[in-house]
Amino acid sequence: MIIARTSTKPPIDLPMPYGWFQLLYSSELAVGESVPLNYFGQELVAFRTESGVAKVVDAYCPHMGAHLGYGIHEQAGKGSAVVGENIVCPFHGWQFNGEGQCKHIPYGINPPPRVARGEQVLGAWAVREVNQCVLVWYHPEGIEPLFEPESLSEAAANNDEWGEIQAFSWDIHTHMQEIGENAVDAVHFKTVHGTKEIPDVMDSVFDGHLRSGLLKTLNPTPKGVVEGTIENKSIGPGLAIIRFSGLCDTLLMANLTPITPEHCRAMYAFMQKKVDGKTPVGGIGGAIIANICQQMEEDRIIWNRKKFHAKPMLCDGDGPFAKFRNWYGQFLVQ
Ligand code: FES
Ligand SMILES: [Fe+2]
Repeated sequence: MIIARTSTKPPIDLPMPYGWFQLLYSSELAVGESVPLNYFGQELVAFRTESGVAKVVDAYCPHMGAHLGYGIHEQAGKGSAVVGENIVCPFHGWQFNGEGQCKHIPYGINPPPRVARGEQVLGAWAVREVNQCVLVWYHPEGIEPLFEPESLSEAAANNDEWGEIQAFSWDIHTHMQEIGENAVDAVHFKTVHGTKEIPDVMDSVFDGHLRSGLLKTLNPTPKGVVEGTIENKSIGPGLAIIRFSGLCDTLLMANLTPITPEHCRAMYAFMQKKVDGKTPVGGIGGAIIANICQQMEEDRIIWNRKKFHAKPMLCDGDGPFAKFRNWYGQFLVQ
């Protein structure tokens, strides 16, 4: 007899949070190219104008509904064409700018009145390009940005001191809050990730849209135990900056973007100080990155299957979950 075993994860009744979210790395959006995307439960298209500015608009053309992210003919296999500051719909050639205005219709004499008046006819997203990432602002009620992302000197393109981004991504079947909560969950480092001790949570600050924390860790090395620190900072629910020190200074941009309320993509970008002017490869730095990626694989086994408890049964050794959820709650508009 065959017994079907399926994992039925209970639904999570939380909306997608508002904030700034990474869609792409800057290097994934070349000048004059467009890329179809699916985030926030909808279809989007990002494009980079010929003057080099990243833009993001809704995917469906207001004319007859073609997807603006899929080109044909010489664009086949790529996104739609970009001409000047506009993306060109593959169906009938209408052109739209990054503000969602239709700037050109290549036939006919009388454009639709809204086009003639220069009105916005296509959804357009607020975009910021910082830290070699293309970010958009998402708010379920369309409210304009309430805070700004932070730019890091270490993550500036062509900076002399820090090496190139080493990028990894994971799709995770859970609400983003569950992943963010990991940062205040000291105990799981021992049980899930096998650290010798439960790390010391030294500091945890919740301030408006910002959250920061400091963990002290003991790292066994061939030369004995080395004390290290993990400084983590969140800028809203989507952007986090984590600095590891002790063994090899490592900066991690740990960004999370909702695909739907119950699925998200983690985009991790590691940077380490250059050695002799080059991005370090392997060695202790490589081991740190491999260890964090391994931790993601371990956490994912839990996250993909766990039930969300709105009121977990906590004890005094647990981290500051109530404070964390209270802070996170500001981004959840029910
Ligand atoms: S559907 Fe886009 S131009 Fe017609
Ligand atoms: Fe973890």
